Amino acid sequence: MLFKSLYGVDLGTDTLKLRDKDGQHFLDSKNMIAVRNNSKVIAIGNDAWEMYEKNPVDVEVSCPMSGGVIASATNMERVLSYTLRQFTTFARKSSGLCLAVPTNVTPVEQRAFFNVISDSRQTNRVRLIDKGLADAVSIGLDVLSGSGHMIVNIGADTTEISVISGGKVILGQTLRLGGRKLDEEIATMIRRKFNINIGMKTAQVLKNNLAFMINGPRLEQQIFGIHTLSGLPKSDVIPSLAVSVAIIDVIDRIIEEIQAVYGRVPPQLSRDIAREGIFLTGGVSMILNLPIYMQKEIGLPIYHIQDPRNSTIRGILEIINRKELLELTRTPAL
Ligand SMILES: Nc1ncnc2c1ncn2[C@@H]1O[C@H](COP(=O)(O)OP(=O)(O)OP(=O)(O)O)[C@@H](O)[C@H]1O
Ligand SMILES: [Mg+2]
Repeated sequence: MLFKSLYGVDLGTDTLKLRDKDGQHFLDSKNMIAVRNNSKVIAIGNDAWEMYEKNPVDVEVSCPMSGGVIASATNMERVLSYTLRQFTTFARKSSGLCLAVPTNVTPVEQRAFFNVISDSRQTNRVRLIDKGLADAVSIGLDVLSGSGHMIVNIGADTTEISVISGGKVILGQTLRLGGRKLDEEIATMIRRKFNINIGMKTAQVLKNNLAFMINGPRLEQQIFGIHTLSGLPKSDVIPSLAVSVAIIDVIDRIIEEIQAVYGRVPPQLSRDIAREGIFLTGGVSMILNLPIYMQKEIGLPIYHIQDPRNSTIRGILEIINRKELLELTRTPAL
C-alpha cells in the first residue's frame, strides 16, 4: 500500500492547489509570500496576496514560482510547509506527494521540486507527472492509447502545449506567456491611452471581467490609479474593447506557437488531432470567445473545458487513484 496516503499538488504560479487522494479535502491558496528585509516571513498565501501592491518598501511580496519552475526554493519551501500544515489535519506526515511539472523540466529543476517537498514534508516519496498528461486525463482522453491528442493549458505565467500519445508527451513546449503577460499588456495600454498607472491586481480584474475575443459585450469598468504626469490619484472608465485589443498580440503569439508545435507532429498523430481537435484549459481559457477565435485562426476544432483552472489537479487525482495511470508518474531524476 505504498500510495495509500498520496496527495496531489499543483504548484500553479497563481494558485497552489492541494487535494487528498479521495478528493474529500482540498485547499486552494494564492502562491505568494511576503518577506520583510529578506528574512522575516510576514504573510503567506491569500494573506500575502492581500498585501500585494500595498506592502511597505521593506516587505517584498512575490510568487516563488516562475515559468512553471521554482524560482526561489527557500520561499517555495516556506509556502509549501505552511500550506501543508494547514492541510495536515487531513494529511499524515508520512504521506507522499504527486505533483505536476512542465514537460521539459531539467534534472536541476526536478531536483529543486524534490528538495522543496522533502524539506517541507520530511518525505522522499515524491512522484512527478507531466502537466499535459494530467490535463489530458482530467479531460477524459484515453492517454494510454496510441492515438494523438493535443492540449494547451494557458495559466498565469506559462502556456503548456502538449501532444500526447501512448501515455507520453511526444511533443511539449512551455511558453513564458500567460495571464500575467496579458495583465502587463493591459497595464501598459492604460498608461499610454489613459495616462494612469495601475497595479497588476487592477489589470487582472480588467482582464477577467472585460476581455473578449471576436465579439463581446461592450462593458466598462471604473479603475483607480495614479496619473502618470501629476502623480495624483486619478480614475477613469475603461471599455472592454480597449482591454480586448490590448491582449490580442500576446494571444496571437500563443496561437503561432500552437501552430508551430502542430506543424512538428508526426503525420499519423496529426491526423488524430485534426479529427479530435485541440483542448484548451487553464484559467486564461475563460476569456470570452477565445476558443472560437483560436479555431478560426488555427483551422482546427478547439474545445474549452469545465472548470479549467482545476484541470491539472483533477487529472493528478485521477492518476493517483488509477493503478494503470499511476505508472505514468516518475520519481524525480536525482
Ligand atoms: N475569467 C477569466 N478570464 C481570463 N483569465 C482568467 C479568468 N479567471 C482567471 N483568469 C486567469 O487565469 C490565471 C490563473 O489560471 P490557473 O489557475 O490555470 O494558473 P496557475 O495554474 O496558477 O498558473 P501556471 O499554470 O501558469 O503556473 C490568472 O492569470 C487569472 O487572472
Ligand atoms: Mg497551472
